Amino acid sequence: MRQATVYIDRKALQYNLNRVKQLAPKSKIVSMVKANAYGHGVENCLDALAQSDAFGVACMQEALQLRELGCEKPITLIEGVFSAVEMDLAIAHNLEVVVHQQQQVDWLMAHQQAYNAKQLKVWVKLNSGMNRLGFKVAEIIDVIQQLKSAGFECVLAMHFANADADHALNDQQIKQFLAVKQACAPILASCCNSAAIYRWPELHFDYVRPGIMLYGASPFADRDVQQLDLQPVMTFEAAIMALNHIQAGECVGYGSTFQATDAMDIAVVSIGYGDGYPRAYLEPNSVFVAGIQRPLVGRVSMDMMAIDVTGLDIQLGEKVELWGKQRRVDDVARSNGTIGYELLCRLSQRPKRIIDQN
Ligand SMILES: Cc1ncc(COP(=O)(O)O)c(C=O)c1O
Repeated sequence: MRQATVYIDRKALQYNLNRVKQLAPKSKIVSMVKANAYGHGVENCLDALAQSDAFGVACMQEALQLRELGCEKPITLIEGVFSAVEMDLAIAHNLEVVVHQQQQVDWLMAHQQAYNAKQLKVWVKLNSGMNRLGFKVAEIIDVIQQLKSAGFECVLAMHFANADADHALNDQQIKQFLAVKQACAPILASCCNSAAIYRWPELHFDYVRPGIMLYGASPFADRDVQQLDLQPVMTFEAAIMALNHIQAGECVGYGSTFQATDAMDIAVVSIGYGDGYPRAYLEPNSVFVAGIQRPLVGRVSMDMMAIDVTGLDIQLGEKVELWGKQRRVDDVARSNGTIGYELLCRLSQRPKRIIDQN
């Protein structure tokens, strides 16, 4: 049996959820479980996230999966519905929708009674400068007034483009959000993702929407999970499947990109990009084997990669931590020119998932 395993530590997930509660004690928590709970498997995470007030997903399929798993909490479709038919489904399954464009408002208005009868809230999205989704300031006040007059309970929602960094746009986004909030008062409000939860306690308002911090990875380039007091939830492991001794001048892997300058011991590890491990590292990349950090050598292939184990006394079958509590996913991401979010989300189905056993 192939040794490529993803361990999910649900205690760590609970720990991180409690961190959100500590940081935003007055706000309701909408735990973001889109993209299969950031690659952790939503079915593995729901129980540990039971103290959340609500869940956030990107699309109808994800919401329906939560309902099939028995989740009865409020669920927000953060991109709203994509058709009038989906609006019927949303109501049937008690899903709260975001509206970010007029067509969605029209679909909602056509379902005014049924939606309001279920006391579902409408999340009205402000485009304050990220220019992905939402109504601009000039439009949103009318939209909200129209919805309120039709009896809808609204949540003013916004998403930061640069919550993880100092950027001139932050000020603009905050000013616009506060201005709309004031103009539409009273209104519920939500604008904080993980980075914003840490940065702007004064903006927590009624709902915070943590994602990456729940899974124990950092939303910041310059603050690691230890500094943020978060615990990695996922440990990704593989095992050594072959050991080779090579001489100076010999090469390893496709493209022969690595050439040994001295004799060395190479371990072949049962992991590759077919499992979701990134192929093309830009900076030196490493794993932990027997508690020791060792570098990758040569290219990562679909099912295998090689590491330098020179000087280590290790055997076939030895476990290798690709990321987890020793080698942080954020550091692997940095070596590969990406972010932890992407590595977590793009794991393939091939590694088996095991809960609470590592
Ligand atoms: C609207 C919205 N809110 C919250 C989040 C959670 O963000 P993070 O994972 O950075 O906490 C996301 C994620 O992309 C999002 O799109």
